[in-house]
Amino acid sequence: MPRQTAPTYTTRPLDESTWDDFAALVEANNGIWGGCWCLGFHPEPFGTAEDNRVAKREHVRRGSVHQILVFDEDRCVGWCQYGEPAELPEIKNRKAYEKALTDLPDWRIGCLFTGSRHREKGVARAAVAGALDAIRAAGGGLVEAYPEQTAGREPQRGAYFHTGPEDLFAEFGFERDRQIAKWRWVMRARV
Ligand SMILES: CC(C)(COP(=O)(O)OP(=O)(O)OC[C@H]1O[C@@H](n2cnc3c(N)ncnc32)[C@H](O)[C@@H]1OP(=O)(O)O)[C@@H](O)C(=O)NCCC(=O)NCCS
Repeated sequence: MPRQTAPTYTTRPLDESTWDDFAALVEANNGIWGGCWCLGFHPEPFGTAEDNRVAKREHVRRGSVHQILVFDEDRCVGWCQYGEPAELPEIKNRKAYEKALTDLPDWRIGCLFTGSRHREKGVARAAVAGALDAIRAAGGGLVEAYPEQTAGREPQRGAYFHTGPEDLFAEFGFERDRQIAKWRWVMRARV
């Protein structure tokens, strides 16, 4: 049985009102991967940590990102990115993805992040649930995620699962569509 989300978690969108909470999470985790500021999947190339922070801040100001923050009481402990393909074009393994592409999804869930001291306590589960709720509220449709296979390989630290573990998405009804890297799959669900 999947563990239940801790009852104190709440989710809120990343917007002007929650920017400081998100920034505190990123800064407490060394900028995330040394300064990516969760800019993966976004259209612009990575720059310095400060370039990435400014680019992300500008997206939030314009409202051109969809991201869910997870709060444990008033502390932001996790984050999940979702959006339409045009908003999140730079998917991992893009060449392999496009090779067998027939139809684009309506929505993508890209990267996930849980603060290093808050892992394995259901934060990512709360983040994905929050993203799917938001997608449903926006009309739903076909949703893709690009998680890492966990079965049949050595146990991996969560640090390497930028796009989340397969089992987490399977819990929410996502099914494998096709493989795009040794351990990465396109998984799909309709919400
Ligand atoms: C991957 C990650 C998001 C998981 O977050 P989390 O909050 O610890 O995950 P949860 O506690 O919600 O776990 C939910 C389910 O995911 C799966 N899971 C989580 N971590 C796992 C791991 N290391 N190995 C295998 N499965 C894992 C399990 O099925 C788990 O359910 P269970 O606890 O009932 O077994 C987290 O480890 C992380 O943030 N890693 C860093 C990723 C990163 O750097 N992102 C930046 C984007 S570039």
